[in-house]
Amino acid sequence: MLAGKHVLLIVSGGIAAFKALDLIRRLRERSVQVTPVLTRAAEEFVTPLSVSALAGTKVYRDLFDLTDEAEMGHIELSRAADLVVVAPATADLMAKMASGLANDLASTLLLATDKRVLIAPAMNVRMWEHPATQRNLTTLQGDGILTVGPNDGDMACGEFGPGRMSEPLEIVEAISAALGDGPLKGRRILVTSGPTHEPIDPVRYIANRSSGAQGTAIAEALVALGAEVQFITGPASAPMPRGAQIVKVNSAREMKDAVDAALPAEVAIFAAAVADWHVAGASDSKIKKDKDGLPTLQFAENPDILAGVSQMKKGRPKLVVGFAAETDDVIANATSKRQRKGCDWIVANDVSPETGIMGGAENDVTLIHGDGSEDWPRMSKTAVAQRLAARIAEALK
Ligand code: CTP
Repeated sequence: MLAGKHVLLIVSGGIAAFKALDLIRRLRERSVQVTPVLTRAAEEFVTPLSVSALAGTKVYRDLFDLTDEAEMGHIELSRAADLVVVAPATADLMAKMASGLANDLASTLLLATDKRVLIAPAMNVRMWEHPATQRNLTTLQGDGILTVGPNDGDMACGEFGPGRMSEPLEIVEAISAALGDGPLKGRRILVTSGPTHEPIDPVRYIANRSSGAQGTAIAEALVALGAEVQFITGPASAPMPRGAQIVKVNSAREMKDAVDAALPAEVAIFAAAVADWHVAGASDSKIKKDKDGLPTLQFAENPDILAGVSQMKKGRPKLVVGFAAETDDVIANATSKRQRKGCDWIVANDVSPETGIMGGAENDVTLIHGDGSEDWPRMSKTAVAQRLAARIAEALK
């Protein structure tokens, strides 16, 4: 699948740059054309000569190298490949990417490209965990940048923890997934995920125990099959899915607006645990305890986002999938929920506390559709997601 593909490989300046040499070798073994770009700092770790020898082609180094511009302009260079890979991606380059800087060849190519970008971060543990780097990572993932790693382990600087660049073969695998002509290639799929927060006043809210883990896993499984995923999430504790376009919301009403804005889509999956009610007339200022005794909350119904999309007269997604989180009579409740809301499939699960499903790593689901139901064995949320993504690909054939 990789043979004949073309990768623009940007090597930035960290000790992990030496692994980029092996990465080039592994890609060449698989008949991938590699066009290497070195940052100034990278040249302190690997020589242009060794990179060029392994890639079997010239190395691009300078934005103002006129020979390069005459042969191939930087805009063209950024678009000639099938995929742009940054390995290693230093904290500095990630910061440049997140803020859209273009002050050297690497950052200019990254800003100018119209291709997908995969980064393999590598840096000291503290640098990786620094809020600035994590903020940049969230920004980059929100921009649809794919990431692989970093791994945990001993680091060249003597510390231990996350920050080691993924191994070359792991990066090859991520490249292969990013380039994959998956069965959902080019399909636009919307996924809602996470809990919603319904404000009581500016500091308090009503929430639920959803972690968003199942939604993240579904989005990643769809991306892996080549889908273009719009991921609309409430304040989830699970990490954001890699490779999806991310829209963050708080309340159910914000989620509905974001879903409306993200449509049309071929498939819509509603994995979010949306609050059924919001506090009517939430206070604009903090409710004080000593004012008039105990406060009384009045509730008003939230829009049912799943039912609204399922019942769209025009532009309804071909396949609408809902979730049913139940604690009693799971199948009967979920079956009637499917009919009431008008969706095509319902993924039913038992969220009774003893199952450990809500907020846990595993799920035990039954897929209910027009032709009956399928009881899936208990498995990880990742496995449920992969199976669901495969079923969706089959249904769209
Ligand atoms: N859902 C939605 N908008 C809402 C409520 C729920 O889109 N306002 C979606 C959820 O994302 C899920 C499905 O509807 O896919 C079912 O959610 P669930 O909470 O199980 O059902 P409810 O409609 O809230 O019914 P009940 O609380 O009575 O079980």
